[in-house]
Amino acid sequence: MLRVENISHSFKTGNEWTKVLHSINFTVNQGEMVALLGSSGSGKSTLLNLMAGLMKPLEGHIYIADQDIVKLGENKLAEFRRKHIGFIFQAYELITSLTVCENVELPLVFQSVSPRIRRQKALQLLEQVGLQGKEDMFPSQLSGGQQQRVSIARSLITEPSVIFADEPTGNLDSKTEEEILAILLHLNKTLKTTFIVVTHEHEVADRMQRIFSLRDGYLINGDFREESPVSEEAAP
Ligand SMILES: Nc1ncnc2c1ncn2[C@@H]1O[C@H](COP(=O)(O)OP(=O)(O)OP(=O)(O)O)[C@@H](O)[C@H]1O
Ligand SMILES: [Mg+2]
Repeated sequence: MLRVENISHSFKTGNEWTKVLHSINFTVNQGEMVALLGSSGSGKSTLLNLMAGLMKPLEGHIYIADQDIVKLGENKLAEFRRKHIGFIFQAYELITSLTVCENVELPLVFQSVSPRIRRQKALQLLEQVGLQGKEDMFPSQLSGGQQQRVSIARSLITEPSVIFADEPTGNLDSKTEEEILAILLHLNKTLKTTFIVVTHEHEVADRMQRIFSLRDGYLINGDFREESPVSEEAAP
């Protein structure tokens, strides 16, 4: 469902190019929940942002639901992302002037879904993440863990095929971290949504079905390939 092929990326600072990802290859199956593990600066967020179509790699291909998103132009990519991709940020990124329910509904506002259906879906998701009764509150009235639950509900409302989460428990204490992890694991099981979760914590990664480890921009346990891969391959 997600295939990363020979992804390399560099950043330019001043006149210098620094390579931060070196020919990354791996495949994630539909419904899997995998961790992207690595220490600070290993390239986790860069790889995640590339997979989520938030930026373009200098080399390689990223297939999501058989579409190479690297090849898509700006408008097509935006449309593809709205339809197929959800994102959960470390710092929640909720809109402070909107209520909890309005935040969750927001992705559907761009999809001409009627307000009634939008609210109905949002309330259902808020219940699934344990926030029933909080729909008319504002983000600032919620704890960090509750805000992250709102952002999880928001990421799910378009029924994406894959959700990318960048350190989703990075701002939370260990008890709240456990609650959020439990919710993510439960949603993965019940909704069969594919999750790619970035973390630098082994304890978090160990809860996922598989772990991909990045070190200094190299994937140390991906699908190693000497040459360009063939297009159809057996899933691992
Ligand atoms: N926009 C940018 N311009 C220049 N260099 C960048 C940029 N973004 C990231 N880098 C560099 O790329 C490397 C990988 O960064 P990245 O943010 O992907 O790491 P990370 O594994 O997510 O780290 P952390 O755990 O601290 O979030 C780092 O050396 C970083 O300095
Ligand atoms: Mg990061």
